[in-house]
Amino acid sequence: MSNGLKYLPSYFDRAAQETLVAVLGECLAKAPFYTPVMPRSGRPFTVRMSNLGQLGWVSDRAGYRYQARHPETGEPWPAIPAVVMEVWSKVSGYPHEPEACLVNHYREGAKMGLHRDEDEEDFSAPVVSISLGDTAIFRIGGTERSGKTETLKLASGDVLVMGGASRLRYHGIDRVLTGTSTLLREGGRINLTLRRVKRP
Ligand code: SIN
Ligand code: MN
Repeated sequence: MSNGLKYLPSYFDRAAQETLVAVLGECLAKAPFYTPVMPRSGRPFTVRMSNLGQLGWVSDRAGYRYQARHPETGEPWPAIPAVVMEVWSKVSGYPHEPEACLVNHYREGAKMGLHRDEDEEDFSAPVVSISLGDTAIFRIGGTERSGKTETLKLASGDVLVMGGASRLRYHGIDRVLTGTSTLLREGGRINLTLRRVKRP
């Protein structure tokens, strides 16, 4: 794949995935998953979310934005763990740290509509995503919503980098294939999305 889209299957082996899950568990104990709602309509997402890092991506009736605190606990987001930061320094090709790590939790039936990541100031930094747990059907199109799309299966331990000409491509999750992984005790899928938000 070219144009700044880098697919790194099995970036993490099983042992490394288990380490990640343990580390994430500690973070999520401090910043629990919550259910965001869509701007205006207030319709709940099917995905539950939390964040790590200085800034977290949130959605509520007022809109999409980045903010420094968990909307329900009022606490700052936990720091992005070193093992996750390391992925960014190895694969991003970007010389500054990410400020945000969105944590998406897909339970049975959860999905994410086609969208672009465009709430950041600095599109020269890629988006780096890590998949854990059940395999997802990831859909990716072009930079126009109406463009043609294709799908890619994202399995546990896979890393995907959307940079360069792919930074603003439409993407989403059609569905998660229940029972395809034994990594997460409660099943489902967790996706970590690392992003640079502010211009350095
Ligand atoms: C996202 O675009 O925020 C999530 C993508 C994924 O779950 O792989
Ligand atoms: Mn996205």
